[in-house]
Amino acid sequence: MTAVTLNHLQRMKASGEKATCLTAYDATFAHVAAAAGVDMLLVGDSLGMVIQGHGTTVPVSMEDMLYHVRAVRSGVDMAERKPWIIGDMPFMSYATPTQLLSNAARLIQAGAQMVKVEGGAWLLDGIRQLSDRGITVCGHLGLTPQSVDALGGYRVQGKQDEDARRILKDAEDLQEAGARMLVLECVPRALAKTITERLQIPVIGIGAGPDTDAQVLVLHDMLGITPGFKARFVKNFMHEASSIPEAIEAYVAAVKNGAFPADEHCF
Ligand code: KIV
Repeated sequence: MTAVTLNHLQRMKASGEKATCLTAYDATFAHVAAAAGVDMLLVGDSLGMVIQGHGTTVPVSMEDMLYHVRAVRSGVDMAERKPWIIGDMPFMSYATPTQLLSNAARLIQAGAQMVKVEGGAWLLDGIRQLSDRGITVCGHLGLTPQSVDALGGYRVQGKQDEDARRILKDAEDLQEAGARMLVLECVPRALAKTITERLQIPVIGIGAGPDTDAQVLVLHDMLGITPGFKARFVKNFMHEASSIPEAIEAYVAAVKNGAFPADEHCF
């Protein structure tokens, strides 16, 4: 029995071995993904869209997140090789450092090993407090879906020089404040490459090109079952597979050997 740890993920960054992450929301899929060799599971607030059927992640509550984190933890506990579990902090559950501290503690007690928060400079005090108390934090920059309306929709971030400089500075500041991992969503691949090279912590990309240390996709997207719009950065791994475990194994192999993401998935 082995468990993926932060040290393990840090060593993968150092050696250049790509790490894999998928979203998971329940015990069965968590177990299937673990068995297929996925390194990290993100209990994402994307569950608001793919599980609950909302148009955004904004309606997701702490209670929803706690329920799904517990379920994923149970699936991982049954697995031989245990992926690292990241739990998303939902909209407005971390608007102040005090809220961040108490709600992050609840997610960790429910079974997450790391909490993920969307945003830059305004989060630094809260991240310092979590990190001082031994709670590991993953930042999330670029397209931050909880602020979709403020960003003017689901669009690529960091295309203008000034925006790219701000995202790079936020990334460095988050690391300095104690974040141990970073998700970069929908940014140009050149910016993601620069940030990945500048940071010591592992960087997970989604729509950020092939040069980040790890990749993440929403499970339902890579299985081709999400209704409606299909983002450019998504690949349907069921096209070449005869079962869900086989599709997830193909995703793991494609990330590890550099076949995914390809040029057609990048900005
Ligand atoms: O909620 C989620 O699934 C996410 C990923 C898209 C990174 O935050």
